[in-house]
Amino acid sequence: MAVGIFDSGLGGLTVLDAVQKRLPDQVFVYLGDNAHAPYGVREADDVHDLTRAGVERLWKAGCDLVVLACNTASAAALRRMQESGLPEGKRVLGVFVPLIEALTERQWGDNSPPREVAVKHVALFATPATVSSRAFQRELAFRAIGVDVEAQACGGVVDAIEEGDMILAEALVRSHVDALKRKMPKPQAAILGCTHYPLMEDAFKAALGPDVQVYSQAEIVAESLADYLGRHPEMAGPGQIPMCLTTGDPKTVSDRATQFMRRKIEFHEA
Ligand code: DGL
Repeated sequence: MAVGIFDSGLGGLTVLDAVQKRLPDQVFVYLGDNAHAPYGVREADDVHDLTRAGVERLWKAGCDLVVLACNTASAAALRRMQESGLPEGKRVLGVFVPLIEALTERQWGDNSPPREVAVKHVALFATPATVSSRAFQRELAFRAIGVDVEAQACGGVVDAIEEGDMILAEALVRSHVDALKRKMPKPQAAILGCTHYPLMEDAFKAALGPDVQVYSQAEIVAESLADYLGRHPEMAGPGQIPMCLTTGDPKTVSDRATQFMRRKIEFHEA
């Protein structure tokens, strides 16, 4: 009964942590494509091809259902993969829709017409590829009207995190928040639209100030996965062995993961 969790690198561990807490009996197989991170500066075709290869690796590891714990992959690859047809019995879910449903006060699968919601001014922090895809705004427009979204492409943050340079990552977060505030001085809500960013949540919150509600995806995605598996229990695939796989160097990735998540995490070669 394994479910796959995929990210370009370490960011999806924030989602893995939350889904493990929410579903303690479920087996998860994690795959970080660290050898090719960051995805956020790549062309959409490239992100699609890498994501597809990662998902296929997780299917092979006994996961019928794979969660793309990566906004960049969700934005560039998910729709295309679904439209081109998945093999029988396989499913891929993204991280965007649950977040937008939470922001727009919707229950899962509520497909009623877009309506006014409480939040009007939203700051979106994401990778350059996610921002330029406009996938967030598109999904939001299906569900809400009158929401002003200002998107800030946070170049460099994922590279700094993957390199373990948290001082640089913090400095970059401050400068990206400043840049956003010049465009939207008083956001009501901020979306950390990259699964790496919760690792910098304190820096985002400090730079944004106490009046901004910060949405991060991990718990929202965990709740939505629990709901999905409740309705589709057959989608917990045949795999039995929890593991973390990487396309990068397992030793370096294990050390970084252990440092970030403050518990021992051991990665193996994918
Ligand atoms: N963590 C990923 C995301 O949510 C991708 C970051 C990257 O590889 O640039 O967008």
